[in-house]
Amino acid sequence: KRNADHDSEVEQQSSSKRARRCALEYPTSSSGSSPPFQQPTALLSFSYTPAHELVFDDSALRYYVPPPARAKLSHAYDRWIRRPEERSRIDGLLRALSRAQDQKHPSLASGVGAVGWRGVLTRILTAPYEEREGWDLNVMCVQGVLYLEEHRSEEMMREKNDLAPRQRLQTYYGYAFESYCTSDSPNRTNVPQRPGDPPGWGGDVDTNVQWCSVVRTKLGDTRLVIGGEVDCVRGKFTGKTDTFIELKTSMTIRGAQDEARFEKKLLKFYMQSFLLGVPEIIVGFRTPSGEVVSTQPFKTVEIPRMVRGKPHAWDPTRCFQWGDAFLRFLRTQCRPENDDETRVWRVTFRPQIGVDITLLDREGVDEVEAGEERVGFLPTWYWDEVGG
Ligand code: A3P
Ligand code: MG
Ligand code: MG
Repeated sequence: KRNADHDSEVEQQSSSKRARRCALEYPTSSSGSSPPFQQPTALLSFSYTPAHELVFDDSALRYYVPPPARAKLSHAYDRWIRRPEERSRIDGLLRALSRAQDQKHPSLASGVGAVGWRGVLTRILTAPYEEREGWDLNVMCVQGVLYLEEHRSEEMMREKNDLAPRQRLQTYYGYAFESYCTSDSPNRTNVPQRPGDPPGWGGDVDTNVQWCSVVRTKLGDTRLVIGGEVDCVRGKFTGKTDTFIELKTSMTIRGAQDEARFEKKLLKFYMQSFLLGVPEIIVGFRTPSGEVVSTQPFKTVEIPRMVRGKPHAWDPTRCFQWGDAFLRFLRTQCRPENDDETRVWRVTFRPQIGVDITLLDREGVDEVEAGEERVGFLPTWYWDEVGG
C-alpha cells in the first residue's frame, strides 16, 4: 500500500511537471497556405503627454512633412528629453480596451482572444527568423482572454538605461528623423523655433510624447487587440489606419552585403507596420555620423515581394503560421484549472531552440507584480472590471 501511494505520488509529481512545463517545436520550414490575417480595424487612439500621462485625445498626433535635404540627425541631442526605460506595462492598452468596450465598439462584439502591445506581437511573429535575441513574456488567461506582456528583468532595464554613448546617439538619430519628418499641424512646413535650429526641424525630441492607435484584427482563429505607437499620418487622420506612416532610419546601402542586411531588417519593419495596419513606411538612409542622404517610401504590403527568391529571403507565411500555432499553443497551455485565473505563465523564446512555458511560482509572481496593486501583471482596477 505504501509503495503504491508512493508511486502514484511520483507519477502525480511528474505529470504535474509535465502540465506545468511544455515546449513548442520551432518551425524549420513553412508549408501550405498562410492562416488568414484580417485587415486591422482602428478602435481608438490616445496620446501620452510630456508628463507621460495617457489622455484620450489626439494631442500627440503628428503629420508627415518631407524632411529637408541632408538633415543632420545629431541636432539638439543635448536637449533630448528621454523617458527612462521601464517595464513595458499593459496598463495603457487595457485602459483603451476598457474604454472601447464601454463605448460598445461594434468590432469588439465578437469577442477578444488575445491582447498585447504591437512590440510583443512583432517579436512573436518574427521569431522564426530571429537569430540573436531571445525574449520572455508573461502571459495570463482571464475569462478566456490571453494577456501578453513583455517580461523585462531589472537587469535588462538597467542595460537599456545605461546604453554606451555611441548606441545612445544612434537611438537618438531615429527620433531626430521623426522630428524632421513631422509637424504638429497638417500641410505646414516646420519653421525653426529656436535660434540655431536647422530648416525643417520639427521641435526637440521628447520621448514621453507618443500617439498610439489600438486596433482589432484576427490571425487564424485568434481575435487580437493590439496597441502601438504611430509615428505620423499623411494628410489627415481619418479615424482609420489608411493614412498611418511608420518612419525608420537605416544606414545607407553601399554594396550587396549592406543590401542583404537591409532586406533582412525589412521583416521587422514589415511586421511591425502590418500588425497595426500601417500601409506606408518611410526610410531615411543615413551616414554613420547621422546625415540623411535619401528617403524612400515603401508600401508595407509590397515588401515581402521585394525579398522573395533572394538567398536571405524571409516568407511572411511562415511567420503567420508560426504566430497562429503559438497563440493556439498558449490558449491550450494557459487554460486555468480550478478557475484560478490569477496564474502567470512565463514564456521564453530562445533562437534556434524554440519556446518553453512554465507556471511562475510565488517569487516569480511577486516580481511581476512588483509591489503594485496588481493581480499577476494586470492592474487591480482592470481585474475587478473583467470579473476575474
Ligand atoms: P529607427 O527605427 O529609425 O532606428 P520606431 O521606429 O519603432 O518608431 O522607433 C523609433 C526609434 O526608437 C527608432 O528609430 C530607434 O531609434 C528607437 N528604438 C525603437 N526600438 C528600439 C530598440 N529595440 N532598440 C533601440 N532603439 C530602438
Ligand atoms: Mg514609432
Ligand atoms: Mg518609427
